[in-house]
Amino acid sequence: MNLIGAGIDRVDGPAKVTGRATYSGDVQLPRMAHAALVLATIANGRIARLETAQAARMPGVLLVMSHANAPVLPAGGRAGVDPPSGRVLSLLQDDHVHYDREPIAVVVAETLEQAAAAAACVAAHYAQAPALLDFGAAIAQAHSPGKINGEAADSARQGATAAPAAQRVTEVYTTPIENHNPMEPHATVAAWSGGSVTLYDTTQGISGEQKTIAKIFGLDPDQVHVICPYVGGGFGCKGSVWSHVALAAMAARVIGRPVKLVLERPQMFGPVGARPRTEQHLSVAATAAGDFTEIRHDVFSHTSRIEDFAEPAAMQTRLLYACPNVSTSHRVVPLNLGTPTFQRAPGHSTGTYALGCALDELAIALGVDPIEMRRRNEPAQDPETLQPWSSRSLTECYTAAAAAFGWARRSPQPRSMRAGNRLLGWGYATATYPAKRSAAKARALITPDGLVVVSSGTQDLGTGTYTVMTQIAAQTLGFPLARVRFELGDSALPPAPVSGGSQSVASVAPAVQAAASGLRDKLVALAVRDEASPVFRAAAADVVLEDGNVGLRTGGRREPIGASLVRNGGESISADGAAEAGPEARKYSMHSFGAVFAEVEVDPQLGSLRVPRVVARYGIGKLMNAKTGRSQLLGGVVWGIGMALMEETRVDPHVGRVVNANLAEYHVPTHADICSIDVDVVHEEDPYIDSLGAKGIGEIGITGVPAAIVNAAYHATGIRVRDLPLTLDKLLG
Ligand code: MOS
Repeated sequence: MNLIGAGIDRVDGPAKVTGRATYSGDVQLPRMAHAALVLATIANGRIARLETAQAARMPGVLLVMSHANAPVLPAGGRAGVDPPSGRVLSLLQDDHVHYDREPIAVVVAETLEQAAAAAACVAAHYAQAPALLDFGAAIAQAHSPGKINGEAADSARQGATAAPAAQRVTEVYTTPIENHNPMEPHATVAAWSGGSVTLYDTTQGISGEQKTIAKIFGLDPDQVHVICPYVGGGFGCKGSVWSHVALAAMAARVIGRPVKLVLERPQMFGPVGARPRTEQHLSVAATAAGDFTEIRHDVFSHTSRIEDFAEPAAMQTRLLYACPNVSTSHRVVPLNLGTPTFQRAPGHSTGTYALGCALDELAIALGVDPIEMRRRNEPAQDPETLQPWSSRSLTECYTAAAAAFGWARRSPQPRSMRAGNRLLGWGYATATYPAKRSAAKARALITPDGLVVVSSGTQDLGTGTYTVMTQIAAQTLGFPLARVRFELGDSALPPAPVSGGSQSVASVAPAVQAAASGLRDKLVALAVRDEASPVFRAAAADVVLEDGNVGLRTGGRREPIGASLVRNGGESISADGAAEAGPEARKYSMHSFGAVFAEVEVDPQLGSLRVPRVVARYGIGKLMNAKTGRSQLLGGVVWGIGMALMEETRVDPHVGRVVNANLAEYHVPTHADICSIDVDVVHEEDPYIDSLGAKGIGEIGITGVPAAIVNAAYHATGIRVRDLPLTLDKLLG
């Protein structure tokens, strides 16, 4: 049986559903104290006076730490700063306030309740300064962030067009601030021992956290131990170390006891990032036949006043379609808000929305089918870098998704289709996300009783890393799944990259494969030297390992592979594996693509909108696990529906406070909002991306969905909404 690609159940499922999985907030240590954050209540200014005496006298309180008494950190706490992975943090080194809900104090007490009660009694008096909160006004002062993730913020290419443009669409599309709401909030337990610190922290990147915390405290990385076996959702907000992690470590060092700090849900709206607000200016033009002549995409996104973070929304515009004239730019607009950050498909979710809507408007202006228009502009190679694609199956996705959806039955005229007394609309948009990988290491070990333990310092955000790596190790070694255990989430393990950018499988799986295959070679070498083994003196190529047993390919006696270990010293043996991108990474353009169709039903009296169906097909290389992979894509589509219809962080324009900082007023889809979602992958072989031919799938699922829904809503109603979220009031114009 081939385990790779099979729909294997999550190996961590039983631990999670029985509550045995220990998340960071579940960690209990002897003598552990509890911390609560005090957050600023102004958007800009200084702390004139902080009343802490009452809080310090309250029962159980061990420490009230503020800028008045916090330990002085090397480089003012900025030694870990290397944006965007190392952030500009608020570590109580001065009295400045840059945004509402910025941490200004930490209260530590014997119990959580005592800490929370005392934190509520810390009173801050401020010297307020005018706050920049008006995005529309501040846009005039927007500036370039320089490079974004190593790529130029601006691009331009110019070429001759076959014919003059017959139609042009020039419009502005906006997306609001959107906050991450993983089920598990940020949580840190910090414990010092001698000069070293152990952090049980919910994070997407244990290695990055180890380095960042070491820099902040002036330690060697091996004095920082980060442990994170489970993450209850990350989506980008746990991709960087935020202030509370270092604050928990500072407090633990001051009181000489372990400290636990768990963020409350409202504290998730400010100090730990959000997807920035965008205003995207699109100008798209095409000939009468539908050949693109020009695409211009200028992105403005908000950032904080302490750090530049740009939403790379126009990156996908550079490569999605053949077009001789393409220019893109990214500008940031500083406001007195917390620094924004990566959120699932950063740039690509917001960018495919704006471009996908503008192209729909262009197709309508030209009177051509939006899919046919895109097919005409399918690029044979990456039109920006002129590199060949490592693989690109977008046209196959168009065909497969359109057939499954029934697109041929669409009548193109707006308001021309009905479902009972509701208006029916069908819309399309393209999905895409880069296929990235980074260097990773792994180790595989077998004990004489035949148990294989494979490990790598990666993370499982709930995505299936435990399961997929177990499958790959078992398949490579010829072992049953049940005899292979995969370990992750400990910075003492061989290092792996951040679980972000949809890169975990492409990065870590080849390292796991290399370690497992190295161990297999060692086991075979041992067995053929072992007189009692059924494969004694056989050529390595004639030896098979299957179901944990070793024997000859030609048949005959087989025995558990551990038997040779027992007879030869009885020690465990292990092998290390490492993998990184080769020269092909510089030769090929590597991206995933997909086609997304959405159906909406709109009540013409109420404007209420439902999404009965989404059909999407993706070219993502080889899927490693049919079950967890489908779940990833499904989850992405659900998020895309939320982004289209619900998600919006509302900031009070006078005081800069998020007014819907809770799950009652910050809306995300529930089961009742989701109907049929049909996602699948097309057959795609990518020989260049990695040894398994697997591209990432964590983020592409959200892309394209908002535009497909907005385009469907136009088809249903004839009303073009350009500002997300598409709430019912916007359809009642
Ligand atoms: Mo993802 S937003 O790169 O964690």
